[in-house]
Amino acid sequence: MSNTIRIAVVGSGYVGLVAAVCFAEMGHNVICVDNDQQKVDALRSGDCLIHEAHLPELLERYRNSRVRFTNDLGEATRGADAVFIAVGTPQGDSGVADLSYVEAVASEIARSLNSYTVIVEKSTVPVYTNEWIRRVMERNGVAKHLFDVVSNPEFLREGTAVRDFLHPDRIVVGTDSERAAAVLSKIYEPLTSGGYYEQPGAIDGFCTSSEPPPLLLTSTKSAEIIKHASNAFLALKISFINAVSNLCEAANADVEQVARGIGMDSRIGPRFLRPGIGYGGSCFPKDVAAFRCVAEELGVDFSLLAEVEKVNKDQKIRFLNKVRSALWTLRGKKLGVLGLSFKGGTDDIRESPAIELVRMLIAEGCSIRAFDPAAMTRAEHVLPAGSSLQYVSDEYAASNDVDALLILTDWSEFGRLDLQRLNRLMRYPIVVDGRNLYEPDVMLKNGITYFSVGRPTRHHMHELAATGTR
Ligand code: UDX
Repeated sequence: MSNTIRIAVVGSGYVGLVAAVCFAEMGHNVICVDNDQQKVDALRSGDCLIHEAHLPELLERYRNSRVRFTNDLGEATRGADAVFIAVGTPQGDSGVADLSYVEAVASEIARSLNSYTVIVEKSTVPVYTNEWIRRVMERNGVAKHLFDVVSNPEFLREGTAVRDFLHPDRIVVGTDSERAAAVLSKIYEPLTSGGYYEQPGAIDGFCTSSEPPPLLLTSTKSAEIIKHASNAFLALKISFINAVSNLCEAANADVEQVARGIGMDSRIGPRFLRPGIGYGGSCFPKDVAAFRCVAEELGVDFSLLAEVEKVNKDQKIRFLNKVRSALWTLRGKKLGVLGLSFKGGTDDIRESPAIELVRMLIAEGCSIRAFDPAAMTRAEHVLPAGSSLQYVSDEYAASNDVDALLILTDWSEFGRLDLQRLNRLMRYPIVVDGRNLYEPDVMLKNGITYFSVGRPTRHHMHELAATGTR
């Protein structure tokens, strides 16, 4: 087998597009397939379609050379050693993953196969999916020796997707076939050998040629469960710290200190312990629900996952109540909102807790001045501007003459505001921060009453009165 593998990637969403350009960066020849001709045309002409660091430069470097775009799945399959399925698995009824796109793609691949090809599940799928893909192949008359099915889950985060792909904590390859394992090992060899990290112009990250990422070989089913279990565990960590933050509020303790204290235990680790207004995005909500459904289908009691979801849902309501208690009543209040995307560094608003909160605040009779550095265009599609909602050009315009300013997304620039300017602009200097971007003392020094998550509230007026320094 030569070092350059011919790869087809089906689906040009976050996972598919990032995988396609990264495989090209690793030296492979890639053809990326999408059935949406407009998307194909846009990608061919260099439009990235998503807001993602390093993606524009890699797309520019490889488009129409090492990465080509097409809508012809049959042609792409016929020329490939491995076909990666990276199509959506949306949430269907009661949380079950809708696998109809995966099935449609598998049937079409089956109709085009003419030599040995590895079919790789890259989409997040329930544990029995590889078996179904295998059955679809066989039902379409594909001989057993012409294919293998592999699960190779992707752990990339939006905003750092390219770096996460090229500098992974681990590469998981689930297969029951040695031949398929050899193809996947070859594909990832530039990373696992460390060779990629010595390449001039390699994307920077924590992997190096002396510390390359490990490749973990497992059974197909274990790999499928690893993906769901990883996302569910991270969501659980977030819900856990959010529940602890509620306890801290009741006990007048500081959740940031508590999180630091827990996270220093190397068995727990400090990451994904940031309290806030709940997790969102295209993965955690959907994957926790899908994993819960898989457990139910298999007759396993995993009600812990339902609790994770409940804490996450309640966290938004708690925040709404926090705004209410800061302002006494909500009807008729004018609020500034900073952040609409589901987290900082992305324009993605899918399952964004910020969007949901804006909706709830409008329903309570508030009028909103909202700003987000990247997500306003997308937000306008689901929350059109009108008498209760205005989109404004920056953080200070959002603060102008408002009864309170709310921080809903952890964009780093929201943590570096000119607080004196903010204080002068707001009608009442009240900030309700759902992401704990400030030290309470700093807000107090700038004359701002500050509510955050899981920390004692600092009331500017009360504290001045107590120290006698008005
Ligand atoms: C996630 C997984 O991290 C990734 O491995 C998987 O492949 C896809 O899903 P992503 O959805 O891009 O990635 O975002 P992530 O950075 O994990 O954040 C998810 C949500 O959790 C965001 O709403 C974020 O604000 C929230 N979050 C994250 C917290 O509230 N606290 C934390 O400590 C971390």
